[in-house]
Amino acid sequence: MKFLLAFAAAAPGDAAETRELSEWRFSRDGGKSWVTVTVPHDWAIAGEFDMKHDLQKVKILENGEEKESLKSGRTGALPWIGRGIYSRKVTVPEGVGYAALVFDGVMGESEVFADGAKVGEWKCGYNAFVVELPAVPGEREITVKALNRPQSSRWYPGAGIYRRVKLVLGGATGLKVWGNAVWSPDLETVKVTSECRGRPSKTVHRIFDGKRELASSSTGVLKGRFEPWSPESPRLYTLVTEVYDDAGVLADRAEEKIGVRTLEYGRDGFKLNGVKRKFKGVCLHHDLGPLGAAFDGDAFRRQLALLKEMGCDSIRTAHNMPCEEQLEICDEMGFMVMAESFDSWRRAKCRNGYNLHFDGWWKRDIENLVRKCRNHPSVVMWSIGNEITEQIDAEGLKLSRELQDWCHRFDPDPERKVTQGLSWMPQAIRSGVTAAMDVPAVTYRLPFYKAMYEASPHGFVLGAETASTLSSRDEYFFPVEITDSPYHANLQCSSYDVEYCSWSNLPDDDWAVQDDNAWTIGEFVWTGFDYLGEPTPYDMQWPSRSSYFGIFDLAGLPKDRYWLYRSRWNTSSRTCHLLPHWTWPGREGKTTPVYCYTDCPEAELFVNGRSQGRRRKDPSSRLDRYRLRWNEVVYEPGELKVVAYGADGRAVAERTVRTAGRAAKIELEKRRFGKLLFVTATVVDADGNHVPGYDGVLTVKTGGSLRFKAVCNGDATSLESFVKPEMKAFHGRLVAILEGEGEEFSIMFKTVTRDKGH
Ligand code: GAL
Repeated sequence: MKFLLAFAAAAPGDAAETRELSEWRFSRDGGKSWVTVTVPHDWAIAGEFDMKHDLQKVKILENGEEKESLKSGRTGALPWIGRGIYSRKVTVPEGVGYAALVFDGVMGESEVFADGAKVGEWKCGYNAFVVELPAVPGEREITVKALNRPQSSRWYPGAGIYRRVKLVLGGATGLKVWGNAVWSPDLETVKVTSECRGRPSKTVHRIFDGKRELASSSTGVLKGRFEPWSPESPRLYTLVTEVYDDAGVLADRAEEKIGVRTLEYGRDGFKLNGVKRKFKGVCLHHDLGPLGAAFDGDAFRRQLALLKEMGCDSIRTAHNMPCEEQLEICDEMGFMVMAESFDSWRRAKCRNGYNLHFDGWWKRDIENLVRKCRNHPSVVMWSIGNEITEQIDAEGLKLSRELQDWCHRFDPDPERKVTQGLSWMPQAIRSGVTAAMDVPAVTYRLPFYKAMYEASPHGFVLGAETASTLSSRDEYFFPVEITDSPYHANLQCSSYDVEYCSWSNLPDDDWAVQDDNAWTIGEFVWTGFDYLGEPTPYDMQWPSRSSYFGIFDLAGLPKDRYWLYRSRWNTSSRTCHLLPHWTWPGREGKTTPVYCYTDCPEAELFVNGRSQGRRRKDPSSRLDRYRLRWNEVVYEPGELKVVAYGADGRAVAERTVRTAGRAAKIELEKRRFGKLLFVTATVVDADGNHVPGYDGVLTVKTGGSLRFKAVCNGDATSLESFVKPEMKAFHGRLVAILEGEGEEFSIMFKTVTRDKGH
């Protein structure tokens, strides 16, 4: 939300933003030495990977573990634990009647001081909070202390002021921070209530489409002809709020983007703007891979653009509160959001997690979450928790009701419902928690969908978390084995998409349940992108420091699974993808299964022109219902080609993969998102074929006003720094992230590649 002082220009396009405080001094040694940093800032991401940073002896109950074991890399093996101090000056100008700092998130427990006096604190590192400053003109020294306790997280949380900070200045009369509550009971009506400070004589709301005023009202009810907001057409308008003081003078004016859309959850499932749909969603952790937790809108835009191309339409902010900028981008790019709050309540998942603070803070945390997020059309559901331990009994039932009611209390839209991801089955049915939630939602546990449906009065069930399939980009193991307990000596997982965990499953399993039960309302896959920490199934092996669950790897490169989801979710583009790669020196004559991920029902495979048979999807088979497989193919170098046939039997797509020769050059694919240029470097042979075995070091150089920012190859076992401009390619690829204008850069082989071969 943008705030303006009364004397600023009146047209919505001229809005001057509240000051963003991006330059801070930072100290990691209690204030002895300082460096200048730019906020959002993550103090740990540039650190060395080392298992000593997060070695823990723990038993992970949620994973069904019965005894403690020594774990490493669980939180990313980066130096995020400990204290950090930030400091800077702010000026409160003459004539200001209100001054506040709005923090969008400080990891972890934080305290805020003005000229040495404590003015605020917040415990939950993921939430936004407001700290009021004395509205006395002059300069203030602001100090923020952040503390990250050991064993306070199940993943990499980041460290420090990792989200935006704003200084909000206003008059004595004005709109409160997050004071507006906006919603649409139907597609012709926008309702607004405004909580103000001071004694306003009147509040006027206006809705603009660009410079054109569409509606205005001083009653809080605005009627007009609006185009609805949806993922396919994320139409936004500008809401202007004018607050007049008791003398009738314009005292404050704020503007924010809104969308007009309706939600319905009922016997007929979920409807957006009256149209039934199922969530094609992914869970996302908050880190941005090699950029760490420091929020970067351009990097997030890239994630969403990649997800959109796959056909994904929704996001669950797992397992915590999104920042406002994230929601602004979801509004604009068209993603429905399940905004989550907690990973634990009173009962601990980690010794020093939110359980230490739950009783004293949950009400404040939910209130801030809802106030901050409620005007974003993208937010279609709240989540009060993920796999909360209390779900099994009466205490959980009581708390579930209280937290759910608390969400509704601050949300004007009665149709925006509340859920939580339930995992302990059948206890969560017996305890009554399933039936008590607005949206009954389960994580994995496919055999319990039906029982949840029957136990709940609502007539639908959501897959709050699905799949948790494990894979590493371009890694294939033979023989192909479907397993829920994979182990490979190089600490990678198979990209045949057949490996998962004891509690999880394959995409195909989720889809079978969804397709066979009309009352399911979709899913949120674990996860869209790999994230730092939680290196299941290798959390007892080193080095392994990031997840294998992603559809995209940590660098944002698609794994094979991307094409599997795309073949189902992207209904406007053809998908025809072949795996594995076809460069297997030493496998000549050996059985090397080939899979095709396609939206087509049927395809024929050829090896060096010889047909391997025509296959059709088979609804009666676990793995042939959504994939086409040729399990008996014998490897010989050359050309692998698939021709896919549409429902009418006509050939509609084909794809060819060729055996690569020696690494000869590097192909660069550039994609710009705002200030960031993402460059995918692919090592290819003289004919341009990807060399999947290449693992030599590539170096990155920039010139002009382009700067090197980070590099990542998607290898969960790599201990190379993200912030050094060189890295080994992982299966012949890596992504360099460059910042600034222009395109003056090069990515080169560090050494001559002689005999690197495949
Ligand atoms: C779920 C949990 C997630 C993640 C996932 C891995 O049970 O909610 O946070 O741990 O398992 O499969």
